Amino acid sequence: MLLNFDENLDNYKLMRQAIIPRPIAWIVTEDENTNIAPFSYFMALTSTPPTMVVSIGQKSDGAPKDTLANIIKTKKCTICIPKEEQLQQMHFSSKELAHNLSEADVFNIDLEKKAKNFPPMVKDTPIAFFCELFQELDIKGSKHKPIIVEIKQMFIDDTCFTNKEKLYFEFNPIARIGGDYSFLGEKISAPKIP
Ligand SMILES: Cc1cc2nc3c(=O)[nH]c(=O)nc-3n(C[C@H](O)[C@H](O)[C@H](O)COP(=O)(O)O)c2cc1C
Repeated sequence: MLLNFDENLDNYKLMRQAIIPRPIAWIVTEDENTNIAPFSYFMALTSTPPTMVVSIGQKSDGAPKDTLANIIKTKKCTICIPKEEQLQQMHFSSKELAHNLSEADVFNIDLEKKAKNFPPMVKDTPIAFFCELFQELDIKGSKHKPIIVEIKQMFIDDTCFTNKEKLYFEFNPIARIGGDYSFLGEKISAPKIP
C-alpha cells in the first residue's frame, strides 16, 4: 500500500505508529503554578549549541497548551526523562487541566528544586535538562508549534552512573509506541563497521 499524504489521511495516526520509539519529554514549566506534561514529538537537534526540539499543539478549545504558553512567557523549562516506575504518573499528567490547576497537586507528583534559576524537576527522574527557549518555529498550516530549547544544565541521578569519571550512565526510559508505551529491553552492542 502506498499512501499519498495530499489525500485526506489521518496523518497523526499514521506517523505516530511508524515513527517509533519516541523519547518522552516530561516538561515542567512555571506560571502562577507549576505545570507538568509529557511530549513525544521531541528530539535532540544539535550538540553545539546543545539544543532539542519539542512540538506542542493546542488545547481542545484552540488555546495554546499550558506548557507552550509558559515557555513563551518565562523562556524556561525543565525537561525530565521519566523512568519505568513513573509511567502512570507521567501518563496521568497528560490530562488537559485548567491553567490554574497544577498536575503536581492533582496527581500527587512530587517536585524537587535542583537548578536555581529553572523550574523544579519531577522528583526521582533519572535525567533532567534545565533549558532556555532558543527559538520558536512556524510550520505553515500547522496548529503545532515546534520550539527549540537550549540545555543550560543537566541533572544525572548518581545511581545511573556506570563510570562517573567518564560520564557514562544508563537508565530505564519509557518510549512512546503509537498511543502506547514500551521499555528499552535488551541492549545490543553496535557492530564494527569494516
Ligand atoms: C506520552 C505522551 C506524549 C505526548 N506528546 C505530545 C506532543 O508531542 N505534543 C503535544 O502537543 N501533545 C502531546 N501529548 C499531549 C499532552 O501531554 C497534553 O495535551 C497535555 O494536556 C498538555 O498539557 P499542558 O496544557 O499542561 O501543556 C502527549 C501525551 C502523552 C501521554
